[in-house]
Amino acid sequence: MARSGKVSVIGAGFYGSTTALRLAEYDIFETVVLTDVIEGKPEGIALDINQSRWVEGYETKMVGQTTGPNGDGYEAIAGSEIVVITAGLPRKPGMSRMDLIETNAKIMRQVAENVAKYAPDCVVINVANPLDEMTALAQIVTGFPHHRVIGQAGMLDTARFTHFVAEKLDVPVASVTTLTLGSHGDTMVPVASACVVDGKPLGDILSQDEITELVERTRNGGAEIVGLLKTGSAYYAPSAAAARMARAVHEDSGAVMPVCAWVDGEYGLSGAYLGVEAEIGKEGIKKVLETPLTEAERALLGEAYEAVKAKQADVKDL
Ligand code: APR
Repeated sequence: MARSGKVSVIGAGFYGSTTALRLAEYDIFETVVLTDVIEGKPEGIALDINQSRWVEGYETKMVGQTTGPNGDGYEAIAGSEIVVITAGLPRKPGMSRMDLIETNAKIMRQVAENVAKYAPDCVVINVANPLDEMTALAQIVTGFPHHRVIGQAGMLDTARFTHFVAEKLDVPVASVTTLTLGSHGDTMVPVASACVVDGKPLGDILSQDEITELVERTRNGGAEIVGLLKTGSAYYAPSAAAARMARAVHEDSGAVMPVCAWVDGEYGLSGAYLGVEAEIGKEGIKKVLETPLTEAERALLGEAYEAVKAKQADVKDL
């Protein structure tokens, strides 16, 4: 596939810089733009990454751009087909994602206003936490149609669950399929009925207690890493997930992924950002899918919906 288009990543911290690197290494974009409010940081990272091109054998060019409080510098993102928003504080040990809400909402407002102004036709992929709320806020501030504002969480939770199952059974990750829906956090819904290992239902291989243990570890997957790092949160698996979503948008692939998307009647649920499976393409969400669920899983998804809907109700006032 020929290289084309521009993707921008806002926030050149750990999550943003690794996402930008992955996007560049795909070698499918003409340009990756990386921005941050810290003077020189995005320019420095972009220069460093560009110098890796010869070694890794890719041509995509990265442009680093410092942005100011009044939006100066945002011209660099003009014409982006995709904008990945990673700007925001990460957790420290003992913090919940909700502890970040006020600070990250201020950052999101500033970023989203400029994204709407300079890249009015883009698809927004938000990764800043708390995920569901910041995704909802990004949509409100940009005023973009819901299908053009998506959040990354389900791909990551599913990747973590898959890793834990593969590790437990000592099998290749490629032989494991898992799925998580719902919210990023307490109301994550592990879809055990969709989990298979080499075609066999997970429930036939592991006991209920063993599955519950892996689900709990997945639910706390972010906190486990925050506890080990002590100074920030995970970014390698998260950036892999976000970059794959951006790739699906760029390639208009229709790939089915668990993402944070606006529900509008699916499962009988409406009017909130929720973790569901969806087809991803150039318009963002092509279609939210109704994954076949057991009655118990459907009830858990309903609970997750109630929780995220309540939390998103006040987002517009942040
Ligand atoms: N515009 C652009 N960048 C900003 C802004 C802003 N208004 N405010 C802060 N930033 C930048 C910071 O300068 C920093 O470089 O966002 C970057 C955040 O980077 P890290 O502190 O390394 O955090 P990171 O691990 O990348 O996490 C970013 O993703 O997983 C979530 O909870 C996490 O919300 C956090 C986000």
